Amino acid sequence: MTEQTASAAQSDSRDRVKIFDTTMRDGEQSPGASMTLEEKLQIAQLLDEMGVDIIEAGFPIASIGDFEAVTEIAKTVENAVVCGLSRSGKADIDRAFEALQHAKKKRIHTFIATSDLHMEFKLQMTRDQVLEQIAASVAHARSMVDDVQWSPEDATRSDHAFLVTAVQTAIENGASTINIPDTVGYTVPNESADIIRMLKARVPGIDAVTLSTHCHNDLGMAVANSLAAVAAGARQIECTINGLGERAGNTALEEVVMAMRVRNDVMPFHTGIDATRIMQASRLVSTVTGFPVQYNKAIVGKNAFAHEAGIHQDGMLKHAGTYEIMRPEDVGLTQSTLAMGKHSGRHAFKAKLEDLGIDLGQNALQDAFVRFKALADRKKEVYDDDIVALVDEATATASAERIKLKFLRVICGTEAPQSADIILEIDGKELSYTAQGDGPVDAAFNAVNALVPHEATLELYQVHAVTEGTDAQATVSVRMREAGKIVTAQSSDTDTVVASCRAYVHALNKLLVRRQKTKPAVAV
Ligand code: KIV
Ligand code: ZN
Repeated sequence: MTEQTASAAQSDSRDRVKIFDTTMRDGEQSPGASMTLEEKLQIAQLLDEMGVDIIEAGFPIASIGDFEAVTEIAKTVENAVVCGLSRSGKADIDRAFEALQHAKKKRIHTFIATSDLHMEFKLQMTRDQVLEQIAASVAHARSMVDDVQWSPEDATRSDHAFLVTAVQTAIENGASTINIPDTVGYTVPNESADIIRMLKARVPGIDAVTLSTHCHNDLGMAVANSLAAVAAGARQIECTINGLGERAGNTALEEVVMAMRVRNDVMPFHTGIDATRIMQASRLVSTVTGFPVQYNKAIVGKNAFAHEAGIHQDGMLKHAGTYEIMRPEDVGLTQSTLAMGKHSGRHAFKAKLEDLGIDLGQNALQDAFVRFKALADRKKEVYDDDIVALVDEATATASAERIKLKFLRVICGTEAPQSADIILEIDGKELSYTAQGDGPVDAAFNAVNALVPHEATLELYQVHAVTEGTDAQATVSVRMREAGKIVTAQSSDTDTVVASCRAYVHALNKLLVRRQKTKPAVAV
């Protein structure tokens, strides 16, 4: 290696920011955002393919579901480090290790709170006790894996002198990444940078570890705070797809990645992320959680690349750079154009999916194609967004479901009562029922409830049109809660009642899976 290339490589690694995705851990802590094992495996595969450095797959001691998810993700991820979260107790750390044992590259992430408020009221521990716990937990994790990350929870509200001692203790006991969480989304950009600089100046041995930033968005500053921390020397950003996460969410992966790319002149850092997979990841997480992406959300919102004002459209036609700081295709977005009609064949459909950056397995592809043909028969114009919605539907039903909707007919209109005739296939056996309700959706749900009795409550019922026009598909999201377990499901169809009923049935199927797993409570 010449001196020049050696120094280029050195500057390259100095400016490289690792992306630590916590969509399946902190993201899943968002109320209602629970994901099944199959869904988590799909997300993990996509994150791995798009170049995420570390995937925090869950909190293994929190539930059997989390343990299984971390275990299975650890077995399948090819390139990324797979990480499991644990509190500072030995049982937590052992459980994290057990779940991670098959990972090619594994990391244990252990944490304890360091702010006076948390130590006094939540932990009821003195500073000395917390320091002892840090030493013991990090040393124990390090006795099992080489890659240990430690986080002082509520770091941004912690006393600086104590934070320095706590971080030093973690490093002395073997932590190789120190993550600084803004647990309650309280910090501001200059303070976020100051904490990183302060630690770099005061903690012996800090240069040998990676400093990381983990920001919550309660004041809408998570992305700005993360980027400020990087400017001050952090080299890992913890983030989630679509900014999913506790309360107002976490730093959005797509925003920090694109900010560092588009404004590389003022933020000369780079990541290993293939940005063209961003839209695909955003759609997948939105579908799986049932959390719609707000229309004006940076990078992945429906309107992020839409130009409505005449003066903007005129400028765009003359030179896209007039109003566009990045190209839609940079983040994997193709224009929503007229896609295909009922004469389009399987090859054209497959090519369209490739254009949209969608890669389906053979079975899901066949299922999506059948749905496409049925849709093209009913709907004059099939747009890209329609295709994305029907692929989401095919993905949602890819796993074997015990309850299937076979038939639905409703009677509705100005004259009550509205009613629904329904046939469900339950564990291979067809059962029918007719129910009345306050409107066709209520009637259909009542019929399902009669055939599948349950204690779950409907927490969310939401409908949105995929495209324009009265023949547009409706995407229906349903969220249900049963004995503390929350599931979310979606379905799309040109018939809103059919989409509603399918979404409801998908949710019940997910609850059936969840019922088989007990969930020990964990307080964090
Ligand atoms: O916000 C937080 O403090 C966390 C820690 C567990 C890292 O999520
Ligand atoms: Zn967090």
